[in-house]
Amino acid sequence: MEFLSTSEVDIQKAAAALASGLLVAFPTETVYGLGADAFNVTALARVFQAKNRPRFDPLIIHIAEYAALSRIADIDSLNGESAERLSILSKHLWPGPLTLILPKRPALPDLATSGLPTAAVRFPSHPVAQKLIRYSTGAVAAPSANPFGYLSPTQAEHVKAQLGSRVDVIIDGGRATVGVESTVLDLSSGGRPRLLRPGGTPRERIEELIGAVEFSCGTSAGAAGAQETPVSPGQLKSHYAPRTPLVLCRRGELASLPDISGEGRLYFAPPAGKSQVLGGTTRVLSVNGDTTEAAANLFQMLHELDALELTRIRAEEAPTSGLGAAINDRLQRAEYACGNTCENAYENTRLP
Ligand code: TXA
Ligand code: MG
Repeated sequence: MEFLSTSEVDIQKAAAALASGLLVAFPTETVYGLGADAFNVTALARVFQAKNRPRFDPLIIHIAEYAALSRIADIDSLNGESAERLSILSKHLWPGPLTLILPKRPALPDLATSGLPTAAVRFPSHPVAQKLIRYSTGAVAAPSANPFGYLSPTQAEHVKAQLGSRVDVIIDGGRATVGVESTVLDLSSGGRPRLLRPGGTPRERIEELIGAVEFSCGTSAGAAGAQETPVSPGQLKSHYAPRTPLVLCRRGELASLPDISGEGRLYFAPPAGKSQVLGGTTRVLSVNGDTTEAAANLFQMLHELDALELTRIRAEEAPTSGLGAAINDRLQRAEYACGNTCENAYENTRLP
């Protein structure tokens, strides 16, 4: 595994590696991605293997210019309303943390979409990601660069610690600024758009532009007729989880609980009158109680707490506005991962 910088020469080197079929972890504004050429089936297979990711969980294809969209998605097959929504959203929110589900082009390998008739497309705003995509093949499949089910990486060091030699190249672009994955919105059905994953673009912003969207978290028959395949496999309840069991509390509840030794705390905002206990095993997502700042710190602080070998992490819910919905979604899944059906999502998918 080779570490590269964000210098022009290094990005070109990484792009050449990617184009030749190697796996390149790279920074985006949301989290680090594990990139492979979207049209190279062998490279795609290595992505699933490196992450220990089930083949039924499709990848997001990253582009760096709007014109590349037509290589991946069959946008001519969209009905008038969906085409209009695509045009508005791509004009206002691309590049940025929004992934759109669209009908797939037959030439895009089925492995990238796990056999679904649709493809997930994202145009990241991170300049390093854009250069890497442009200098390589123009279409880069990239899931978050973490073992399946575990916390997403917001720093190059997280990728190194979690995937190590399973990656060929890591571009170190510092900390991801948004901090939670992109919002996933399905425009493929022709009906009302469905929000499949809350993420870095707030639902409110999308609804301002195209009107009401449906929040969809059910299951349906998906790839290859699998009965329990979620509409979006990222909806698997046990996901985005630290190794340490996490328990979620309502806002304000956490500060009133007695301190228990060996337990960590993750506050959304500073608890009144408790500033002296911060640090150590306690973190605060946002000093100003702001959901954007909190999202940027979420995975970073969970990584920090997870490294402390605590018996439990108690986390406080965020308000539901702005990026709060994405924060709560990740915390709820982390809590679920430690709960009844899975002893621990990471244990169940531990790398050999
Ligand atoms: O911010 C992000 O989106 C990051 C960075 C690296 O771009 N990527 C990311 O990828 O979060 P990943 O693989 O961890 O999550 C992709 C999500 C999954 O929930 C997957 O099930 C969903 O997108 N997805 C991909 N293709 C889909 C499709 N055709 N239909 C429905 N959901 C799809
Ligand atoms: Mg992921």
